[in-house]
Parts: sequence; C-alpha cells; structure tokens
Amino acid sequence: GLPARVRIHEVGPRDGLQNEQATVPVEVKAEFIRRLAAAGLDTIEATSFVHPKWVPQLADAEELYPRLAGQVPDGVRLPVLVPNARGLERASALGAREVAVFASVTESFAKANLNRTVDEALEMFAPVVARARQEGMAVRGYLSMCFGDPWEGPVPVAQVVRVCRELAAMGCAELSLGDTIGVATPGHVHALLAALEEAGLSERRGGPRLAVHFHDTYGQALANTLAALRQGVTTVDASAGGLGGCPYAKSATGNLATEDLVWMLDGLGIETGVDLGRLVSTSLWMAERLGRPSPSRTVRALAGT
Ligand code: HMG
Ligand code: MG
Repeated sequence: GLPARVRIHEVGPRDGLQNEQATVPVEVKAEFIRRLAAAGLDTIEATSFVHPKWVPQLADAEELYPRLAGQVPDGVRLPVLVPNARGLERASALGAREVAVFASVTESFAKANLNRTVDEALEMFAPVVARARQEGMAVRGYLSMCFGDPWEGPVPVAQVVRVCRELAAMGCAELSLGDTIGVATPGHVHALLAALEEAGLSERRGGPRLAVHFHDTYGQALANTLAALRQGVTTVDASAGGLGGCPYAKSATGNLATEDLVWMLDGLGIETGVDLGRLVSTSLWMAERLGRPSPSRTVRALAGT
C-alpha cells in the first residue's frame, strides 16, 4: 500500500543552488527559503558548512543561516550539511539543530567529493555524528552514488548496504539514498530497498528511517519515487523547480522537482502540506533571479508556458 502522508525534504537551497553558475545574493537565498516555508514545506535544507573553495556557491553560509531565524515559522526544520568537525563547529555556533553528513558508496566519488577513501570519509564522520547527537541534534546520513557512478558504472546493492550499516551504527537516525547521477530505474530501487529491509536497515525493522534522493537525468525520478513509496519509504527529497545537480559529478542534472512530486502525491491523495500554487510561484520567481526557466514539467504546465 501507499502511505497517507509523505514528508518532503526540500533541498533546493542547498543541492539546487550549490550547482548554479550564477552567484545568488544572500538576500535572494533567504527570500527563497522564506517563500518555500510559506508554501508549506517544513523541512528545508538551507546550506552547507563545507570548505568554501570546494563549493563557492554556498560560501555565504555564515551570513545566510542567522537571517533565517525570524523568517520561517516555528516548527520549520532547517538542516545543513557538515562534512567534518570544522563544519559541525560552524553550524553549531549558529544554532543549527539538524545536520547531515554525506558519505559516498563508491571510491571514485569519495575521492572527488571528499578527498578521502570511502572508509576514511566514514572515519571522518563518526566523531561528527557522535558530537552532534551529544548536542541533541538530529543527524541525517546521505549516501551518494547508490545506483550508478560516472566512473565505476552500476553499483552493487551490497556496497550500499555496507555503507548504510556503518552510518546507522554511528547514530544517523535517517539515511538518504542518493541517485546522484539519476541512473536508477524502479526495479533497481526495489532491489536496493528489499536488501536493506532484509538487513534490518529500515524503519519497519527498527532500523533508521530511509529517504530517497533522486536526480531526474533520465526522467525516472517519479517512477523511482513511487516504487519506494510502495516499499514503505515516507520521506522524499526534492528541489523546488528541479534546481540542482552536483559540482563534483558532471553528468548529474537537477533533483526531482518538488512540484512534479507534489502533483503526483496530490493525485494519489497523499498529504504533504504543500500548496502547489504558491510553490510554483516561488520557482517562477527564482527562475527569474537565475535567468533561466525551470526544467520542471509541472512548473511549466501550471505557468502556462
Ligand atoms: P580537504 O582539502 O581534504 O580538507 O577537504 P582538510 O581536512 O585537509 O582541510 C584543509 C583546510 O580546509 C584546512 O584549512 C581546514 O581548516 C579547512 P587550513 O588549516 O589548511 O587553513 N576546512 C574547512 N573550512 C571550512 N569549513 C569546513 C572545513 N573543512 C576543512 N567544513 C573537505 C575535505 C571535506 C573539507 C572538502 O572535500 C569539502 O568541503 N567537500 C565538500 C564537497 C561538497 O559539499 N559536495 C556537495 C555535497 S554532496 C552532494 O551534493 C550529494 C548529495 O546531494 C546526495 C546525492 O545526490 O548523492 C548530498
Ligand atoms: Mg543530490
């Protein structure tokens, strides 16, 4: 069966904007997040506390994060990415309550994205997760390249299960399964979720909550999402207007567009709390700031363009 409600984890301001060529002024980012919250999104990934040279688009995290406090309603969660102790210190100093570490399932991407092997990256995260939990923060663990990798090709399910197990053992309450380059298809999604369930790594088995994070390179993101919902997943990552990609994975396009997701969930009678009209207006507004149209089919259809 399908869930009655889905929690949308909005990643536009982070996964979306980290990959935009245009420099987006900090006040535009703050306004974007304010509008997303006003459209009913209650989990909005705001930025990353990574090395500013690695992701210059998010180098303004110290300026952005404090601006958000008075701008979004109480109860809206504003998670941020932290790769290491330095990142956690920066986020913690600004009062962040939720953080995410981001592992790679493949060696090639671990090197490209984190300058580490897979295991070295996990060693870097362990004390970060422990410290964040001591501070009472909720911790999400991302896994990149769960389906395919631009250098290594198709990724074996067992390799993903292994990294999930490590992140869960560290204390990540939620794991987000990333299809970084958008090559997954529903059968592969089914196989991965079945293997995780089998390994006790699903919420129904008392394991971590699983989220799915699809990029839409091959137009499969919605079909993949539906496959995941049928297997008990209730948290879905998406980016408003379909913004996004990843600067260290050249073949990646944007995330599943939040509007496309909400259109499907509305049609299925699944609650999200999101006002689609207000969300579309937000993406049209952002597209104007970025100087290019939204790739989302739903945004374009509802905008009548
Ligand atoms: P490194 O060069 O190995 O860093 O990079 P290091 O630990 O050797 O430190 C070198 C210098 O950087 C030091 O300064 C540190 O203080 C400084 P120095 O002492 O030389 O003056 N430094 C920092 N400064 C500010 N903030 C920090 C920080 N850390 C170190 N947090 C590192 C390693 C992890 C830092 C780097 O590789 C990095 O920042 N990577 C981030 C890449 C990134 O953000 N990628 C995009 C997010 S992942 C993604 O999008 C996928 C996802 O969407 C899911 C999916 O689709 O798959 C989540
Ligand atoms: Mg991503």
